[in-house]
Amino acid sequence: MNILVTGSRGQLGSDLLELSARCHNHRFFFYDLPDLDITLPDRVASICSDHDIEVIINCAAYTAVDKAEADSAMAFKVNRDGPAILAACARERNALLLHISTDYVFDGTSSIPYRESDPTAPLGVYGISKWEGEECIRRIKPSYIIIRTSWLYSIYGVNFVKTMLRLGAERPELTVVADQIGTPTWAADLAAAIVLIIDRHEREVHYEATFHYSNEGVASWYDFARAVMDLAGISCNVLPIESAVYPQIASRPQYSVMNKSAIKKEWGIDIPYWRDSLAEMLQRLAAREA
Ligand SMILES: NC(=O)c1ccc[n+]([C@@H]2O[C@H](COP(=O)([O-])OP(=O)(O)OC[C@H]3O[C@@H](n4cnc5c(N)ncnc54)[C@H](OP(=O)(O)O)[C@@H]3O)[C@@H](O)[C@H]2O)c1
Repeated sequence: MNILVTGSRGQLGSDLLELSARCHNHRFFFYDLPDLDITLPDRVASICSDHDIEVIINCAAYTAVDKAEADSAMAFKVNRDGPAILAACARERNALLLHISTDYVFDGTSSIPYRESDPTAPLGVYGISKWEGEECIRRIKPSYIIIRTSWLYSIYGVNFVKTMLRLGAERPELTVVADQIGTPTWAADLAAAIVLIIDRHEREVHYEATFHYSNEGVASWYDFARAVMDLAGISCNVLPIESAVYPQIASRPQYSVMNKSAIKKEWGIDIPYWRDSLAEMLQRLAAREA
């Protein structure tokens, strides 16, 4: 298949690029700003036509959660209008749109893992803009698969794991919030799941589906930070704090663990435990930096 990956220099896009070198049954085309801005319909259409694109994987997004509060016009442009433009192009071409969304579409008041059908109630501009992006795709109705993920990290780009490694090397002690619960997701695992879905999907079927994907298990940001230090052999002492003493500009869901039964059952995906994936990511990162 001919596959377009948008936002290809981001975390997930970069992991897809790495994985694509081992996928000889597909032709991947990787694009990011400034060559492809997903908010420009003519550019999207011409790139899809030039490469005869059959699948669009949308990794492009405005992901600065706090900055989005003051920059909402740009967040909505990229996270709502961009997916709408990709959806219209996919429908026109009869292509599959595989779009990535977020656990931040939920308000975090649940105490059991969120299912795809649970009511959404995003708390901030980022979450609202991502939710509206999902809704645009559902209204435009190309063949689509939306995958909501959470707490993404990668050897590429800037993320919580890399920040913890840096701070852990600089400071003897660190405080991290312990009352926000979710699940870390290694972008390389999500990339593998995406490719598996593309391999197994049927060209003739019109998909209108939403799935949840994160790694297995549950953690607070404090647990996540502790695991980074333990697995990387850093002696920094990590102390738990409440979110109230670490105010952030945007509100985040206190609990955003997602139920992944649907994606596992529908596509036969095995999902690694978050700590195992973190260990593997840290090994890859160390090897890359050696
Ligand atoms: N990161 C997380 O913790 C997390 C959690 C849950 C869900 N997600 C979702 O997972 C997906 C992938 O996230 P990620 O962490 O890989 O994101 P990322 O690292 O921020 O990458 C996003 C990429 O999209 C590019 N981009 C921004 N505006 C664009 C536009 N108008 N046209 C084309 N490209 C544009 C960015 O370029 P610039 O860097 O130049 O802006 C960047 O290269 C996103 O949909 C995100 O919402 C992420």
